[in-house]
Amino acid sequence: MSIKILNNDEKKWFLETKNTVYVIGVDENKNIQHLYWGEKLPYPSDYPGVLLLKESIFDNFEQIIKEEFSPWGGIRYKEPGLKVIYEDHVRDLILKYKTYKLIDSDKCKTLIIYLIDSAYNLEVELNYRLIEEYDLIERWVNIKNKGSQSVQIKQILSAQWHLPDMQNYRLSYLYGRWAGETKLSRIELGYGKKIFESRRGITSHQFNPWFAVDNGQADEDIGKVYYGILGWSGNWKIVFEKDSYGRLQIGGGINDFDFSWQLKPNECFVTPKFVAGHTTNGFGDASRKLHHYQLDYILPGNLNYKTRPVLYNSWEATKFNVNEEGQKILAERVASLGVELFVLDDGWFGERNDDTDGLGDWYVNKKKFPHDLTSLISYVNELGMDFGLWVEPEMVNKNSKLYNLHPDWVYHFPNRPRSESRNQLVLNLAKKEVVEYIYDFINKLLDNYNIKFIKWDMNRPFSEPGWPEALKPQQQEIWVRHVQGLYQVLDRLRRKYPEVIFESCSGGGGRVDLGILQRTDQVWVSDNTDAFDRLKIQEGFSYAYTPKIMMSWVTDSPNWLNQRKLSLEYRFNVAMMGSLGIGGNLNNWSKNEIKLAKEKVIQYKKIREIIQHGDQYRLLPTWKGNLIAVEYVNKNKDKAVLFVFLHSQQFGEKLLPVKLNGLISDSLYQYQDENKKIILSGKALKEIGLKVNLKGDFDSKLIILEKQNRRND
Ligand code: DGJ
Repeated sequence: MSIKILNNDEKKWFLETKNTVYVIGVDENKNIQHLYWGEKLPYPSDYPGVLLLKESIFDNFEQIIKEEFSPWGGIRYKEPGLKVIYEDHVRDLILKYKTYKLIDSDKCKTLIIYLIDSAYNLEVELNYRLIEEYDLIERWVNIKNKGSQSVQIKQILSAQWHLPDMQNYRLSYLYGRWAGETKLSRIELGYGKKIFESRRGITSHQFNPWFAVDNGQADEDIGKVYYGILGWSGNWKIVFEKDSYGRLQIGGGINDFDFSWQLKPNECFVTPKFVAGHTTNGFGDASRKLHHYQLDYILPGNLNYKTRPVLYNSWEATKFNVNEEGQKILAERVASLGVELFVLDDGWFGERNDDTDGLGDWYVNKKKFPHDLTSLISYVNELGMDFGLWVEPEMVNKNSKLYNLHPDWVYHFPNRPRSESRNQLVLNLAKKEVVEYIYDFINKLLDNYNIKFIKWDMNRPFSEPGWPEALKPQQQEIWVRHVQGLYQVLDRLRRKYPEVIFESCSGGGGRVDLGILQRTDQVWVSDNTDAFDRLKIQEGFSYAYTPKIMMSWVTDSPNWLNQRKLSLEYRFNVAMMGSLGIGGNLNNWSKNEIKLAKEKVIQYKKIREIIQHGDQYRLLPTWKGNLIAVEYVNKNKDKAVLFVFLHSQQFGEKLLPVKLNGLISDSLYQYQDENKKIILSGKALKEIGLKVNLKGDFDSKLIILEKQNRRND
């Protein structure tokens, strides 16, 4: 595994990961051409060379070659990687190969290719960082203005990927809405463009920046899949462009919609990372590689290898109606279940009694908490739990002291209404004073109280994104500056409070991406806590993200959203598929429910290492039939957990056995079925499967398998 360079009459780079090679080369026109991406081939001569000028047909050369990063300039019509306007209003960008550099530091090798527009001294660095063990390549671009004039950036992508020729390109992607995020959809890509994006200022509930492309025949375990995921928490876009020769180019990065960035002399602009990979082992392998990549390279290191605590969140139980006494009573009940972290949600601050007031005023409401938060926190700590707190720092209600004091701190245009959503407005994080205000109030909270967890919420998308106080060429920078401000605060807080866990929430799963995950430890996946609905949401989520970050609560039945009634066992089993939380009103739970809940928490603690750090297999997906099954196997393959759910059963309908995956073929595994102990080999569990005795509607089972030391001779 390495970066090899061929340096004779043509210059080529071979980026080798464990199982794949990515090849690029320089052509006669000093363009960087994409040459190959896929499995390793036996001989260097097997890999294609650059297309030569003389091979060009009626279409212009630059239209025909697969450019690694195309400027908008010359005769080019495809989606560009970079589009600029120079100060003299020249809008033609010419990027030519200049040189390259190899960096072999930390645990990765990086290739940097330098391109230059020499007339204006604008330098572009293309970065390729190899994540060798997971066959992934991280790409990003750094633009340096080495000239003497400002440049206006109109579009800047992180990377353009080219896929090999396929008869069909089938795209898998994640779409959704509030309370229905990350649902998997599959379409065949026709000629032309298909764009997925966010224009909402956040990653969005509607689309998540993940994709997978195959030829229509891959499944969970076999088939070539190309897949990628973007690390940006603001406006993004991914453009799939199948040209008239049937070739697919995928470009992604910051959304150019309403965006413009002034790059002054000596300044640089770094794009977010867009990581992509290739596997021949289907969607399951692609997901597992992304999961482990996130655990090893993305999630903040300090807490990464600790399993997440079981938490309780009071939101569904009390909504805004929180007070010291009520929370203490809840805390007592919660502690008896074995919960490790008690989180106080919305309503504890300012004059906040519903969603019309108080956002922005981050002082403790003394009517609700007469002894400040200290008394509740000490009580929670005495009960043996850590304490966590909800905040929504980027927001303000018009009914607040903050808005009265600083009406100009929100995004707005003069002479235009300020549209409210959930009665709130978005603070302008492009402003340094706003970023400081946010840092200061959270810093004070963490300084003054024993807080070990912050749930960072963000409940509305942007509107009227004006920043009238800024100079005109900078006003459209807000889309990026907001995200930079947010990242800055989180980075500073993490540095100062490395032991605090941060959860990203945005009205559920509106801000889940690799950018926010570099600075938060887990995410609130959806406000939809109905366990059956959740199965679909969690399944889509698992294509892109590790179960470890997937916070899931057990809540009350019937569910507040859809009134569905589900057994407590079923609700627990669904919530245990990621990081377990409890969110029901424990004051109303019966003795039997409390007893079962205690048992389930004990059970979860025994298996959470396998769920949070193991390999996940989607054995029977939600869209295939009546039975849904997901398996988790630990690293040593000596422990596995199987979750099975039956949706509804027609009388007499036979349930097929569930075929397991990822176990050692000739090892024996024991599991318990009702009161019987069963021992079968890994191979038998894969080939014949395991019978599950489920009945009726919404039945479920959790089965734990353990490898036996003896052989079955
Ligand atoms: C939206 C979140 O998704 C909920 O969990 C809760 O924290 C509310 N906001 C509070 O306003």
